[in-house]
Amino acid sequence: MNNLNQSKENFSNKVVHWYLNNGRNNLPWRKNISPYRVWISEIMLQQTQVKTVIPFFKRFINKFPNLKSLSTASEDDILALWTGLGFYRRAKNIFKTKEIIREDYKNIFPKKFEELILLPGIGRSTAGAIMSIAYKQSYPILDANVKRVISRFDNINIDNKKAIKLLWSLSESYTPSKNIFEYTQGIMDLGAVVCHTSSPSCSECPLRISCKGAYKKFGISKKSRKQKLHKKINFTLAHSNQSFLLFRRNEKSFWESLWVPYDNQYKEKSNIFKYPLRSEVKNLNHALSHIDLDITIEIFDYKKPFKIKTNLEHQWINKNEIHEYGLPKPIKSIIENYV
Ligand code: ADE
Repeated sequence: MNNLNQSKENFSNKVVHWYLNNGRNNLPWRKNISPYRVWISEIMLQQTQVKTVIPFFKRFINKFPNLKSLSTASEDDILALWTGLGFYRRAKNIFKTKEIIREDYKNIFPKKFEELILLPGIGRSTAGAIMSIAYKQSYPILDANVKRVISRFDNINIDNKKAIKLLWSLSESYTPSKNIFEYTQGIMDLGAVVCHTSSPSCSECPLRISCKGAYKKFGISKKSRKQKLHKKINFTLAHSNQSFLLFRRNEKSFWESLWVPYDNQYKEKSNIFKYPLRSEVKNLNHALSHIDLDITIEIFDYKKPFKIKTNLEHQWINKNEIHEYGLPKPIKSIIENYV
């Protein structure tokens, strides 16, 4: 074996050894491992931290323990379980993927990387994670944790446009052919619990001796320091007898397909809302990953629910049934707390 191959093998051996002693074996998706459970967890973990995902994953698996149970779910059933997790496109992709698996794969989870990568919401890293964790086949991954570990280890500036290509080739070269299950989860865990974004615990890291970034100080990268956008959004929420008039949001931006009050930007307000018995205004701020929302909701109370003429998809939904629909968290809590 030449020196380069030896040092690459060293990298993966160290990660595997560290994982066997320090891995997070109690995570719910690491029990009763199946391709289905790995898929759901990997989609949830795409933009969300482990501790936030745990209760959502448990609720999801409780309701839909396997592909068969998910195969008859509606998009709303899946969106409802996503309330509060954010990045709702992921839930829509789960819906689309399970439809494809039912139609094209007879409800059997695809086994090949080339098949997985064609499914909505599954990119190269997620397909690699499913192949290596569920099927124990050697495929590289490059999620945020792995990016951080490798970019520090090899001193790669991740703000550079060409970095991704380089990081993928490094990840590929470190990925072992043996112990892939332990390696993949090990490098994810190492990134999360040792190689933190700021103040990494280098003295606990099995890679510290050869790491080019060991014991360096890390600030937040230029990319993550980007200024967030601010957006004002004005809603009108009709209420009557514990029922609320909600509209399915068809915007391509945030909250796509979720049920929300009437968005005043649609300019049909005067046709839809007659004079209410009583009204009240609520203001709230809600931070999305990329936009800070400044939300105003004018709540109109009516004697009884009324029919409206509009092309917008809408429905009067009883307060007791809103958990069956996908609503953004701040809207759901306004409704739940409205008396
Ligand atoms: N982040 C992405 N996938 C993960 C997994 N399977 N376990 C822990 N953290 C992760």
